[in-house]
Order: sequence, then structure tokens, then C-alpha cells
Amino acid sequence: MAIVSGKLGVDGLSEAVGVLREWQNDGAPMQLHPGDLGWFWRSGAEATAAAVRTWSRDGQILAVGLLDGPGLLRLTIAPDAQRDEELAQRLLEDVTEPECGVLPEGRVNIEAPMGALVQDLLFEDGWNADEPWAPLRRDLTDPVKDPGVRIELVGPERAHVFAAVHRAAFVGSGFTAERWHAMAAGLPYADARCPVARDDQGNAVAAVTVWSAGPGRPGLLEPMGVHREHRRHGYGEAITVAAAAALQELGSSSAVVCTPSSHAGAVATYKSAGFQQGPEIRDRYREAQDV
Ligand SMILES: CC(C)(COP(=O)(O)OP(=O)(O)OC[C@H]1O[C@@H](n2cnc3c(N)ncnc32)[C@H](O)[C@@H]1OP(=O)(O)O)[C@@H](O)C(=O)NCCC(=O)NCCS
Repeated sequence: MAIVSGKLGVDGLSEAVGVLREWQNDGAPMQLHPGDLGWFWRSGAEATAAAVRTWSRDGQILAVGLLDGPGLLRLTIAPDAQRDEELAQRLLEDVTEPECGVLPEGRVNIEAPMGALVQDLLFEDGWNADEPWAPLRRDLTDPVKDPGVRIELVGPERAHVFAAVHRAAFVGSGFTAERWHAMAAGLPYADARCPVARDDQGNAVAAVTVWSAGPGRPGLLEPMGVHREHRRHGYGEAITVAAAAALQELGSSSAVVCTPSSHAGAVATYKSAGFQQGPEIRDRYREAQDV
């Protein structure tokens, strides 16, 4: 059977979210998580459907891609199809041929599971390895300690609180309460929580969104940030511990996150909250002039 690739449409997104949940596994290298689609959903269901691609054989999805910004394709592959030759060849063709419309011309980055055959094919095709990213994981078997600050789980009426912290934490963030509502209307948000930390004066100082992939599977932190006027007071550690506790309550086996290895503050924050750093991950990239 040939590989069929394409878009799913809004109604088909539940199928993509479903396979991404199934593919999460503590033993596997970190890969695209249902929470990544959940966070993208802040732009709306139509935009999410337009950004998701699937590759199937015989009606079964073998790979899911998320066009997570201009020139960035985040790809993940079913655990038993990571070394599937036909699939890897087709993925390479689809990302190399501009007429396939998967990626624009110009600088293109592809994130794919480390160890997948498509990584080898991209390498042989002359794609370079980009800057290293650090995957970090915290096991959730043992009870998570109290974060030591006041934590509020934000719901629809307090969406503006989460949005304000996000804007104060991330340079260039245009996050709004409307975007929070769009995100919360998405399928993956049924298994998500938004803890916000407050200081002694009651100011909202840090926020995170956590995404469960179902009981016994890794849950994702995306995004996590501390208000720029409240940094270096332990709130980054506290909100990350609160994130781990929220995921534990949702039944996750571990909490996972990925950040650029060069982002010393984030790596130190996750480690101080009990996360351990795994083997580095690198995108493959190609410049327009290499085509
Ligand atoms: C990264 C960030 C969350 C840290 O928050 P914070 O409240 O300042 O962190 P904390 O005070 O809890 O510090 C936790 C640890 O990180 C270290 N740390 C914090 N910022 C650091 C920096 N810029 N450089 C080096 N280490 C840093 C602290 O020394 C502390 O280490 P220790 O436990 O070994 O003493 C914050 O700078 C931020 O929100 N940045 C922008 C958003 C972002 O990048 N989020 C992460 C994306 S994955």
C-alpha cells in the first residue's frame, strides 16, 4: 500500500490528537506531543487544521507533522514506523519538493525523532544539524513536594491573568484572554491545566500550561514563564514544581519539556525543580541556497 499524505481538516484533528497520545512513551526520545497541538490551538481550530499534516498507509496514520511557524516542520512518527523505508522516503520527498507545499522555500527546519530513518536520509541529502536543544524529564512516581507559593488553577473567568503573565514573560508575546479561550476550546485542553503562581502581595508572577497525554504517559509543559519583574526569586522553580504536581494529579507518568541548551536560565530552572537532562536533540535545517 502506498503512503498517502495530506491535511485532515478540523473534523479530523481528533484522529491526529489520538495517535499523538498513543505514541507518547517514557522509553522513547521526546517527540511532538498532543500538548504541542493544544498550544497551537490558541490560533483557532481552522489554523491548527491548516498546520497539521499526516502520512498514512492503509488508512492508518504513521506520521504527524505540525507547521509550527514559517519554515518549521515538527514531525513525529509512530514508534513501529521509525525505520520504515517507504515512509522515510516519502517524508523526504514531501519536504524537499516545494510543489508538495509542506514547507516554503528559504530556510527550513525539520524536527524529527532522533533515531528515525528520515534523520539519516536528511543527513545524506545534505541537511545540517541545528543548535542543540535539551529535553528534560521528571519522573512522577514519588509524591511532588509543595511548591511553597500560592498556586491558582486558572479557568475561563481568569484567562486574562494567565495572558498578562505570558505577555510579561515572553518577549514579543501577544497573548490575550481570547487566545486562551481558543486554546481551551481545543481537544487537547480537556487534559490540560493552567497553574499561576502568586507572590506574598498577591501579584501573579509565573504561569505554565501542562498537557496530559492520558494516564501512565508523559505530560508536557508548554509554555512556562516568569514575569520579567519577578525573576531570580525562585518562582520559576516553584511554578515548575506546581506543573509537575498538576501532571501527577492528571495521572501522567512523567513531566517533559524541551528548551534550547543555550538557555541556561531555563535549563537551571527545570533542574532545580527535579528534572533531568536527556541526550541533546537537533533539528535538521537547509538554507534556500542549498536547494
Ligand atoms: C527561565 C525563567 C523561567 C527562570 O525563572 P526565575 O524565576 O528567574 O528562576 P528561579 O529564580 O526559580 O531560578 C531557578 C534556578 O535557575 C537559575 N537561573 C535563573 N535564571 C538564570 C539565568 N538567567 N542564568 C543562569 N541561571 C539562572 C537560578 O540561579 C536557580 O538555580 P539554583 O536552583 O541552582 O539556585 C525566566 O527567566 C523566564 O521566564 N524566562 C522567559 C521565558 C522562558 O524562557 N521560559 C522557559 C522556556 S522553556
